[in-house]
Amino acid sequence: MTYQVLARKWRPSNFTEVVGQDHVVKSLMNALQHNRLHHAYLFTGTRGVGKTTIARILAKAMNCENLQDFNPCGLCSVCKAVNEGSFLDLIEVDGASRTKVEDTRDLLDNAQYAPNHGRYKVYIIDEVHMLSGHSFNALLKTLEEPPPHVKFLLATTDPHKIPVTVLSRCLQLNLKQLLPTQIYSQMAFILEQEAIEFDVASLKLLSRAADGSMRDGLSLLDQAIVFGNGKVTTADVSAMLGTIALQPVTELLDALAEYDAVAILDKINEIANLTPDYSGLLQEMLIALHRIALLQQIPTAIDHEFDSDELIALSVKFSPEDVQLFYQIGLVGQRDLDLAPDPRSGFEMVMLRMLLFKPEAQQKVSDKPIKVQSMSPKVIPAVVVNEQVPVTAIVVNDEASKAEINASGANDWLSMIVAMKLTGPLREFANNCALESIDNNLCTLIIDPSHIRRARAEEALQKALQAYCGNAVKLVFKEKKNTLATPALLLTKEREDRQQAAIDAINADLNIQALKEHFDARILPGTIEPI
Ligand SMILES: Nc1ncnc2c1ncn2[C@@H]1O[C@H](COP(=O)(O)OP(=O)(O)OP(=O)(O)O)[C@@H](O)[C@H]1O
Ligand SMILES: [Mg+2]
Ligand SMILES: [Zn+2]
Repeated sequence: MTYQVLARKWRPSNFTEVVGQDHVVKSLMNALQHNRLHHAYLFTGTRGVGKTTIARILAKAMNCENLQDFNPCGLCSVCKAVNEGSFLDLIEVDGASRTKVEDTRDLLDNAQYAPNHGRYKVYIIDEVHMLSGHSFNALLKTLEEPPPHVKFLLATTDPHKIPVTVLSRCLQLNLKQLLPTQIYSQMAFILEQEAIEFDVASLKLLSRAADGSMRDGLSLLDQAIVFGNGKVTTADVSAMLGTIALQPVTELLDALAEYDAVAILDKINEIANLTPDYSGLLQEMLIALHRIALLQQIPTAIDHEFDSDELIALSVKFSPEDVQLFYQIGLVGQRDLDLAPDPRSGFEMVMLRMLLFKPEAQQKVSDKPIKVQSMSPKVIPAVVVNEQVPVTAIVVNDEASKAEINASGANDWLSMIVAMKLTGPLREFANNCALESIDNNLCTLIIDPSHIRRARAEEALQKALQAYCGNAVKLVFKEKKNTLATPALLLTKEREDRQQAAIDAINADLNIQALKEHFDARILPGTIEPI
């Protein structure tokens, strides 16, 4: 016995078996009920959504000898003949293979004769958009005023290619793409009837991959059965489709919600052994995030039965802002994935970026020190996040701060003090003087009158200066209220600046802010110190 593909074997034979398309089915059944059949129907819609199927059911219903609730009975001679393809009054034409005007003329010549057996002669012209312009013209007249015993059922995926003159003579019925849930249910039904084992996740994958087309879905299902040697499993279907099941995606998102970097990397490791399609994985991640966002905003927009409980659980773990942010990071990540050194590291980076930008991140690690980037280039705070321990900001780069003072030119005197290698009280004394002028043999320093003059210190400074200049330099002190900045003032100012920078850095730190917000933490006064 030859194997018949599922799509053909399970083609609906009456209106009740048609999945979805309720609007169309209903209006056709109404027309049958009230005997208001149009003389020409045009079924439009994408591939594999039931155009040909519904046209055949309608043809059968128009001639059935024993309609059951406006459904063809399936038992009378007409129904049987149509099912077997031997009903003389049903003329099926494939527009794609019979495009020539002669074909159409032959067809229409035949239309004038009364039906052989049934009430109506029904012409199904499939893929009608493929007919030539002349064929359409030949068709027009009959389509306008067909003999009462003639019905036309046209079908096309591409109504735009049909002349308006034809369109306006038909009653157009547009079939919808099928929802993944509808495809899923049909697949599950068929597999149960066929007694083929399957798991739920695999059918979900397949029904999404069908992309709205029942025929595509059933063809994929055929493939999966062959691939899985008579069974349909998630692993096989993932491998076959090159897509990733939802499960690792939800596990990754779970780890993200838990702010668990280790779990994320472990999971990626695990996935690396299975299916190395990171672009597909990211795609699934985006689809999941989209559905989570929908769930959060418009719960009714989601089919709860179809969308796994995992997504529903995840939707309460993330804030809507988080989801938007992750989606954006994922989108950008997808664009850049090809640029990454290798897809895996690219994917890892996307996940880590999500982790980094997750605002609640700090909650989970309050017992660990957090390394943070400083706002100011000079100040790198190393933060110990513990209320008991003083918060310490380390100011590094001392060289740079000195250079800045020198560069500022505010006080050459300071650099001279440094160059003279002054230490102890002498340095302190020098620091409290300001340089007014210096040339080859005279150096004038200004000293504040409130400072006590110390002869020994002045002498020692004279010597050091001489050694520094390499010639006899006379050192003169002028007492006046200081208008120049002394190194001491400068250092005080710098210390204050450093302190302020440390305080600012701590206050601006997002981790600290989050700790304050979530744990009511406060910084003990006087515990911030630059090092
Ligand atoms: N609405 C539906 N309900 C149940 N099965 C369907 C439906 N639509 C399509 N199928 C399945 O897909 C197969 C193909 O459907 P059909 O030939 O009616 O599609 P079509 O819309 O005419 O596609 P095409 O544009 O490719 O001709 C059917 O044999 C049936 O198994
Ligand atoms: Mg078709
Ligand atoms: Zn019948």
